[in-house]
Amino acid sequence: MIIIRPETSDDFAGIYEVNKLAFGQEGEAQLVDAIRRSDNFNPELSLVAIQDEKIVGHLLFSDIIIQTENKDVPALALAPLAVHPEFQNQGIGSQLIQQGLKDCQRLGHKIVVVVGHPNYYTRFGFSPARAKGLEAPFPVPDEAFMVLELAPAALEGITGMVKYPPAFDDV
Ligand SMILES: CC(C)(COP(=O)(O)OP(=O)(O)OC[C@H]1O[C@@H](n2cnc3c(N)ncnc32)[C@H](O)[C@@H]1OP(=O)(O)O)[C@@H](O)C(=O)NCCC(=O)NCCS
Repeated sequence: MIIIRPETSDDFAGIYEVNKLAFGQEGEAQLVDAIRRSDNFNPELSLVAIQDEKIVGHLLFSDIIIQTENKDVPALALAPLAVHPEFQNQGIGSQLIQQGLKDCQRLGHKIVVVVGHPNYYTRFGFSPARAKGLEAPFPVPDEAFMVLELAPAALEGITGMVKYPPAFDDV
């Protein structure tokens, strides 16, 4: 039985730990802490997966913008997603994403960008972002740079560069 819920301050250490264990390094755990301290943080969109009162997964959506010729369009970055190594391949990552995307939609967000494995994220509706007119600020293969529209035609008429906050620079 998995419970998915927004983080509380009691979860900070457990979130750090699950990111560190999932990625085998501290960069993503530090990224979460840095985003939490930034203006780009949405507390309702930092989700933990709990099993037997233990944090077994974590997912964060934070504010980014798409810079177009005449305006900045708000969007969310899905990153990072981490599942404790002993609990992977049991559907926990999928539950975090599905619940998270519903929460994003409920809160009025319209566009979600992810850089990740295409086989994984396409199952949740993500598709290549360059084909939809977006560009990444760093080198990334076409198929790994993906976007999801949470509202119909959210990307219609939008062409531009995705801009990540400085917290992402070190990861
Ligand atoms: C990627 C990750 C979040 C997936 O979570 P999970 O709970 O294990 O995944 P689920 O059980 O929901 O889904 C399992 C599927 O994901 C695939 N998968 C697992 N890890 C993957 C990875 N790193 N890249 C691509 N696919 C992956 C599995 O092959 C499986 O595919 P199948 O359904 O076709 O058999 C988790 O494995 C993890 O934390 N990995 C280390 C950190 C990481 O790479 N995060 C992703 C950053 S984009």
